[in-house]
Amino acid sequence: MQGVTVVDHPLVQHKLTIMRDKETSTAGFRRLLREISLLLCYEVTRDLELTTRRIETPLQTIDAPTLEGKKLVFASVLRAGNGLLDGMLDLVPAARVAHVGLYRDHETLQAVEYFFKAPSDLENRLVIVVDPMLATANSAIAAIDKLKERGATNLRFLCLLAAPEGIQRFRSAHPDVPVFTASIDEKLNEKGYIVPGLGDAGDRMYGTK
Ligand code: PRP
Ligand code: URA
Repeated sequence: MQGVTVVDHPLVQHKLTIMRDKETSTAGFRRLLREISLLLCYEVTRDLELTTRRIETPLQTIDAPTLEGKKLVFASVLRAGNGLLDGMLDLVPAARVAHVGLYRDHETLQAVEYFFKAPSDLENRLVIVVDPMLATANSAIAAIDKLKERGATNLRFLCLLAAPEGIQRFRSAHPDVPVFTASIDEKLNEKGYIVPGLGDAGDRMYGTK
């Protein structure tokens, strides 16, 4: 599908299977999400542009590769986005962070905003929005709407699981935003859950219900 990358690395798929298993503990789920986020981060940043910087090794002066442009922004869709954010910051510690607080109203499935805080100069930075689940896409669309409103023009969306219906809606709303996911599952059920999915990502991460 155009604009959608499925990260089918064997380690990602192996870890995802354990996360889907309802017997996996809260601690195990959290640890696996952090581990997977390292691998997903590697993929979503694979084509970042490089420039060079002159350095002196102990033996010679060279023009060595270094990331070009301003620091990245990782935008975490609360709460569950934080499960991906932590690992991503391990790999890119200098990244700036935005938080977008949204919850899904369980009746209407609409995204309700309760918090927003982002760096002020989003226009000059690549913004990678992270949330493990893309179900109806209401949350992802609302998060990107808000970030664009605040000036972001160069965005990517990274999740763990996506429903085909969500991808379609997301791509129509924001065709300029590429999606990276570890899996496109079968469908959404009548309650808006991804099937087979892994349940409620936030609840499984934090042991709430
Ligand atoms: C989950 C998930 C996404 C959203 C996806 O969050 O982390 O943000 O649902 O569903 P959608 O594509 O239909 O909008 P939830 O609203 O349960 O909040 P939480 O992260 O605080 O648990
Ligand atoms: N949010 C989740 O956490 N899980 C789903 O399956 C759908 C939305």
